[in-house]
Amino acid sequence: MSKHIVAPVEAIPPGGRKLVEANGRAIVVFNLNGEFFALNNRCPHRGGSLCQGVTTSVVESAEPGEYRTSRPGEIIRCPWHSWEFDIRTGRSWCDPQRLRARQYPVSVEPGAKLVEGPYKAETFPVTVENDYVVIEA
Ligand code: FES
Repeated sequence: MSKHIVAPVEAIPPGGRKLVEANGRAIVVFNLNGEFFALNNRCPHRGGSLCQGVTTSVVESAEPGEYRTSRPGEIIRCPWHSWEFDIRTGRSWCDPQRLRARQYPVSVEPGAKLVEGPYKAETFPVTVENDYVVIEA
């Protein structure tokens, strides 16, 4: 695995997502309230684009007729057949032990760490033998 710079942090606001390609793989990066997570964009069911899905909450029920929601925006629902995946882990809601979207490590790193100095300006040779058009304005 090699590192790929996705975007400045500000380009993926909380609740946002960004689809990127790295080493030939489509990967969707999510921002959950300042924490970043990356999943393979290809749904493990039939290949739907998880980036195109809607986010939802965890919905649980202790008994018929009652339910409660938690973790708003942390579940992504595939747009093709509505399978749901935990954005934090990639695990599917229907069979979390066997079915999951592949997850990739994400980090936030300072730009100075990604591009090491010292910084040198590119230089070009200049000659004074040629003629130049000069304007006065
Ligand atoms: S392709 Fe994603 S649920 Fe079917």
